[in-house]
Amino acid sequence: MTLWSGRFSTAMGSSLWDLSESYSYDHVLYPFDIAGSKAHVRGLMRAGLVSDDEGTTLIAALDEVLAEFTDDRFTRSSSDEDVHMAIERRVIELAGDVGAKLHTARSRNDQVATTFRLFTLDALQRVTAASLDLIDVLVTLGDAHGDAYLPGYTHLQRAQPVLLSHHLNAHAWALLRDVDRLLDARDRTSVSPLGAGALAGTSLSIDPSFVAEVLGFDSVFANSLDAVSDRDFVAEALFDIAMLGVHLSRMGEELVLWTTAEFNFAVLSDTYATGSSMLPQKKNSDVAELARAKSGRLVGNLTGLLVMLKGLPLSYNRDLQEDKEPLFDSFRQVMMVLAALGGAYQTMTFNTDAAARAAEDPFMVATDMAEELVSEGVPFRQAHEQVGRLVGEAVSSHRALSDVVAENPDFARFANLFEPGVALTRRRSPGSSGPAGAKVQHDHLVSNRARAGERLAEGSQGMPEDVVGPFL
Ligand code: ARG
Repeated sequence: MTLWSGRFSTAMGSSLWDLSESYSYDHVLYPFDIAGSKAHVRGLMRAGLVSDDEGTTLIAALDEVLAEFTDDRFTRSSSDEDVHMAIERRVIELAGDVGAKLHTARSRNDQVATTFRLFTLDALQRVTAASLDLIDVLVTLGDAHGDAYLPGYTHLQRAQPVLLSHHLNAHAWALLRDVDRLLDARDRTSVSPLGAGALAGTSLSIDPSFVAEVLGFDSVFANSLDAVSDRDFVAEALFDIAMLGVHLSRMGEELVLWTTAEFNFAVLSDTYATGSSMLPQKKNSDVAELARAKSGRLVGNLTGLLVMLKGLPLSYNRDLQEDKEPLFDSFRQVMMVLAALGGAYQTMTFNTDAAARAAEDPFMVATDMAEELVSEGVPFRQAHEQVGRLVGEAVSSHRALSDVVAENPDFARFANLFEPGVALTRRRSPGSSGPAGAKVQHDHLVSNRARAGERLAEGSQGMPEDVVGPFL
């Protein structure tokens, strides 16, 4: 029997039950839902809608339900449609008639929105923390290889040499933007919908701002219709995770390339590599491939949610129940990728010699020659043309550009540019890839990372102690 059975004369058909039940996946929300219910009880006590004794009984029953879930002894009843009804049903079993007062001045519509916002706040914190960990891994790896360098690419064609730390920090900057977005998303997620009722509030004298404060929300809803139908926070979290996933995917693709025999810039540790069932010699970079692949479903989860939301009339519609699995999935997937990629970077060996050899390709000095001519007063377009001709000569005669330059009396003075590592040191404009500005850039990145860490810590203070997700 469901909690709404009074109105109905027959039981729900089993195919509709299968379609509509959500307990099978939303039960993981129990700590957030129970925290929301406890705050709601305190609100009811304050409003005089339940007595102090009744409130104490309700809170004790909710704590017992929490313990049952935590100790894995909560039993779902066949009528529990979702986690909210399961918890309320059990509270009624434990607290009798008093339990039947729990849902006073509340609907599952404001309840589920509250619960899911609490979950999302927790998830945002965790993804942010894990992203910061990966940033630290990248920065540490760069620091540990202070002098290492490799070719920088455009169009995946060798372009100019770059420090390894500069290259890894480029990824770290992208991840810092993700962190920034995740932290910003908190502001719009931390709005309490509790007290909006089914859609229009209630005639009972509740104070939504009180429960908002108890739950550690930054603010409270302004419009009850919006409160129960708004899932912008889910879309935003999904976008932020998808964008992060796209960055991780690009890093994954790069690791795939770096660990090929053709590039040979890095070797994964055995702990983070996989073998082949047939080819005994294989050492595969599945970790990087999966990081690359997962972004597809992260984007899919975002797209699916946006399409689900599109066209929904105000206010709550059952369609909104479909908001959960995409976020659960994106959250779990991105956490796995962050952890595994971090491990892969932390334990991989960077082939300093192979990367430096590739970065000493004489063609990568062509721009330096052109810029040297510019310093001597030659307009850049003409300098480009002159060096381009030398490059063409090297290509057609199958000789190294350095040899062509050394043998040409008009350009032999530039031969020193081709000495190992020289081109790298010439990258010295602000933000460029050479050693000259590396320290400044490193400090800039590290201070931004530290500031993000502080913002993360500030946000967690508001969360009630007993809101801890069971997720990972
Ligand atoms: N399981 C539902 C959801 O996730 C809870 C809200 C149900 N509300 C309703 N009016 N049927 O959205």
